[in-house]
Amino acid sequence: MRIIHISDTHIGFERNLSRFNAVADDLIANPPDEPSRCVVLHTGDLIDAAMDANRLAAKKILARLEACGYCILMCPGNHDYGDKLKIDRADAAVFLRDFSSYIFQGEQADFPVMHEVDDCVFIGMDSNEAELGFWERWFAEGYLGSVQLDKLNCMLDRVRGKFVILYLHHHPFYYGYSVMPDVGDKNPLLHLFAWLTRPFRRLKDAYSLCQIVRDRVQVLCFGHMHHGLDSSSESQKYGIPLALDGGSTTCTDDDSDRMRYRIIDTKDLSQTMRMIKISRS
Ligand SMILES: [Fe+2]
Ligand SMILES: [Fe+2]
Repeated sequence: MRIIHISDTHIGFERNLSRFNAVADDLIANPPDEPSRCVVLHTGDLIDAAMDANRLAAKKILARLEACGYCILMCPGNHDYGDKLKIDRADAAVFLRDFSSYIFQGEQADFPVMHEVDDCVFIGMDSNEAELGFWERWFAEGYLGSVQLDKLNCMLDRVRGKFVILYLHHHPFYYGYSVMPDVGDKNPLLHLFAWLTRPFRRLKDAYSLCQIVRDRVQVLCFGHMHHGLDSSSESQKYGIPLALDGGSTTCTDDDSDRMRYRIIDTKDLSQTMRMIKISRS
């Protein structure tokens, strides 16, 4: 089976709608395998702000991929539940309802949610769940909460021995270097207080998550950072062979003219990156 990992499409922000449509065009024209043997995995921030127009536009693109035969799985990101400053319980309920067929493969249920596709087990989590209270929801950076982690622990016991892909939105790993290209050239305060502190503003219960999934998960996919890094050297400390940040498939906040998405082969954990050039004009 092939996993097509996409993330952080932020529909509604600048030209991301047409960019995501271009990615869908590419996937429809050049499927990496029979679409029925592929899972398109979206790790959140599908939309940039919780608005009807964004949700509707996103649905149309996902429906195009589904009509082509792809199985689509998704977990929610912070922007799906609000905007860049906050998440909101009412917006969360609307998003989960509108995209329940991709998030839950049916009626709305609790997280973690488990889907068995062929011989693989996909487990999706909501890394906003413990931040939906009034005091925690501002500048949310991801918090799974003990209730969800306890359920994950039990779920992983039930699927012991199977090939497990875990996916969530917020990044559980630090990265040890800055990948912003213009450090020193401009925006020194932004780099100091926003970008350079971002690695430390990771998923709040990342360490607890890593202890629970230790040696029980083969692939861990996430988004939120928008950098598209391979965190496997970090995750292998916990016995997780492959851990990947999906980046922003539509290049949101990214100094790039190449949209990218990964194709992961579950047979041998090999991965390839597809790039699509975008026009700046
Ligand atoms: Fe994002
Ligand atoms: Fe995010």
